Amino acid sequence: MRFRCTHACMRLLITAGPTREPIDPVRFLSNRSSGKMGYAIAEAALEAGDEVILVSGPVSIAAPPRARLVSVVTSDEMFEAVHANLAGVDLAVLCAAVADFKPARCEPRKIKKSAGAPRLDLVPTRDILASLGAMRPRNFFLAGFAAETNDVAENAQKKLREKGCDAIVANDVSRGDLGFESDENELSVFIPYQPRIVLPKASKRELAGALLIILKNSQEKS
Ligand code: PMT
Repeated sequence: MRFRCTHACMRLLITAGPTREPIDPVRFLSNRSSGKMGYAIAEAALEAGDEVILVSGPVSIAAPPRARLVSVVTSDEMFEAVHANLAGVDLAVLCAAVADFKPARCEPRKIKKSAGAPRLDLVPTRDILASLGAMRPRNFFLAGFAAETNDVAENAQKKLREKGCDAIVANDVSRGDLGFESDENELSVFIPYQPRIVLPKASKRELAGALLIILKNSQEKS
């Protein structure tokens, strides 16, 4: 890819992977995120000489050895871990697939099948990206992701406006060959008052390097 890095080292906070929202001690609501995209961004940043705090939900891949790994399970734990690790951060990239809803309560004991299918009451989780987007003053550049199945550009622009971030990185998760779980992806970067930048299908690792350069260039200009 045609992006070159000439930036000073930074401290990055990256979120990755899914969250799990418990229903009872053995069941949870979650999603298909493998952590590959977020971990690839962490690897690219470390290779560029950056310091990385990687706040990760449960995944089965190994974290890059030089990343400071903060392991979490639920959206509430991820919210707290992100806010507790913001000191000195220059660039935050929120790539985690955080659950949008969680069960209103977690049953203390395993729900018995014999009791019949339970009714699940769901409540919204706290939005981590929007909470950072609302911070004033904010001393770091804030990039979120948008996982979309339709109207990718429109939905990404809406998230950029509504979540108060400096960039949104959109991917189409309706395709089987990229997005969730795949080793490849295709990204569109939306930055206010700039034309959209498309990073065509490539390995997540390759895309991560190009994406970081775009975000760092934008941070310098902001
Ligand atoms: O992990 P992989 O298998 O490699 O897959 C990569 C990926 C598809 C998960 C990744 O590229 C991606 O799209 N991540 C964002 C997934 C997501 O939750 O998208 P969203 O459009 O629902 O959320 C928008 C943004 O808000 C995201 O930055 C998300 O981290 C953030 N969010 C969402 C809900 C919430 N409660 N708090 C948040 O911070």
